[in-house]
Amino acid sequence: PSDFTLTGRGAKKVVVLGAGIAGLATAYELGKAGYDCTVIEALDRVGGRNWTIRGGDRVTELNGSTQTARFSDGVYMNAGPARLAQWMVTMDYCRELGVPLEVFTNSNAQSYIFNEAAGMTTPVRWRTAKSDVYGYISELLSTATDSGALDAKLTAQDKERLISFLRSFGAIGTKANGFAYTGGERRGHSVDPGAGEQPGTALGSVPSLSEVLASGVGQRFSFEFGYDQAMLMFQPVGGMDAIPRAIAAAVGKNRIMLRSKVTRITDLADGVEVEYQEHNGRTRKIKADFCVAAMPPHILARTPHNLGPDVQAALATPTVTSSGKIGLEYRRRWWETDENIYGGITNTDLDLSVMWYPSYGYGTRRGLVIGYYHNGANADAYAALPHAQRERRAIEQGMKIHGAKYRDELASSVSVAWKLQPHIEGAWVGWPSRTGAYQLLNRPAGHVHFAGDWLSYMIAWQSGALESARKAVTDIHRRVLTH
Ligand code: PHE
Repeated sequence: PSDFTLTGRGAKKVVVLGAGIAGLATAYELGKAGYDCTVIEALDRVGGRNWTIRGGDRVTELNGSTQTARFSDGVYMNAGPARLAQWMVTMDYCRELGVPLEVFTNSNAQSYIFNEAAGMTTPVRWRTAKSDVYGYISELLSTATDSGALDAKLTAQDKERLISFLRSFGAIGTKANGFAYTGGERRGHSVDPGAGEQPGTALGSVPSLSEVLASGVGQRFSFEFGYDQAMLMFQPVGGMDAIPRAIAAAVGKNRIMLRSKVTRITDLADGVEVEYQEHNGRTRKIKADFCVAAMPPHILARTPHNLGPDVQAALATPTVTSSGKIGLEYRRRWWETDENIYGGITNTDLDLSVMWYPSYGYGTRRGLVIGYYHNGANADAYAALPHAQRERRAIEQGMKIHGAKYRDELASSVSVAWKLQPHIEGAWVGWPSRTGAYQLLNRPAGHVHFAGDWLSYMIAWQSGALESARKAVTDIHRRVLTH
């Protein structure tokens, strides 16, 4: 069954529902193996949530409200996926399809942490927060170790080695100095080191251990330890949509029916029939040997079908998560010129959640900051506002980090609330459990197979969609070969 040639068999027909990453990859891989695929897509573009917005693009929400992006040439906003981890199969597709990649800066010592609820009045750089947290933890642990508090756990040699590690890890004093953390150049400088007689001035006013703990900055560090979020990360040069564009080109544009909405899925004794409505209102039917339904589960759950009540219940099982982003184009790259931040993410407890500085176009005139990328309740709250109010609120919040220039230098903005995007209606889904409904939909219902990030353990990652597509393709090909 690992033989991907259709020796001696006529090409099987497959209808793929949805031209998101899963649907496109399904058609691409089946096409390589000689299958005859047609992709039905409701939107007027491929990619699904992989959506790069550029000047002139329109963003229309379910209620009909429309924004037109006024971004300048070369400026783009990845409204959906925006970062790739090195271990993800997405990297292999980029190689195979010739999509050039560049580093996406997911963590940056220069960007900020801001915890307003902890009483912080100014943001603190990541490097400063790390110096203080690592320093004080090292001081505490060295003191405890040296005083014998950990003797039940440590040999004399362990203790020596641990303290030696902590002295460099935390940049702390010697035993004679009580292993004291007293700040230092890791925190950053108020005056940078220079030539001649300029050694630099370390940032003053080191907070106390108690203040550092109260600020909660250390809680943010673990983000970059995550298997899927650790540096290095990557992005396609020029926008994430280079991926769906490349896959679609390989599939063949003639095989992808845009502005075509699936209206019924009928499993038959010898295949499957899909009914869809074209933009002109005309209804068409397509018959195939198999179908791969690569649409969001909650949209499939609203699509008439004859796959039975268990499938219907399963499709309605996952819970849909909201997420939103705003792209703020600035007339000048003040984060670079004024604050020496070249890419990376500022993390906050504000309703904007995080702010992303662009990992491209360094030193050019204009640039686009993601002013919020949040989910859940914050995303719902912003989604409920018209765009102009989202912008105002995002600016008001962001000024707590960056001051008046955050408002004054703004050129234009676009916001996307994924719950309000037609034919998508959500950012990603969550399963209450990986048994039952999840398992059922990972198996075919008659001649209908399902695919999407929602059927993977990498939900909200393109790699999840790609791996799920590869699984559906393998499952179909096994059936064909053993028939
Ligand atoms: N993949 C998305 C992102 O990186 C959503 C996500 C966030 C998924 C965090 C898992 C963890 O933003």
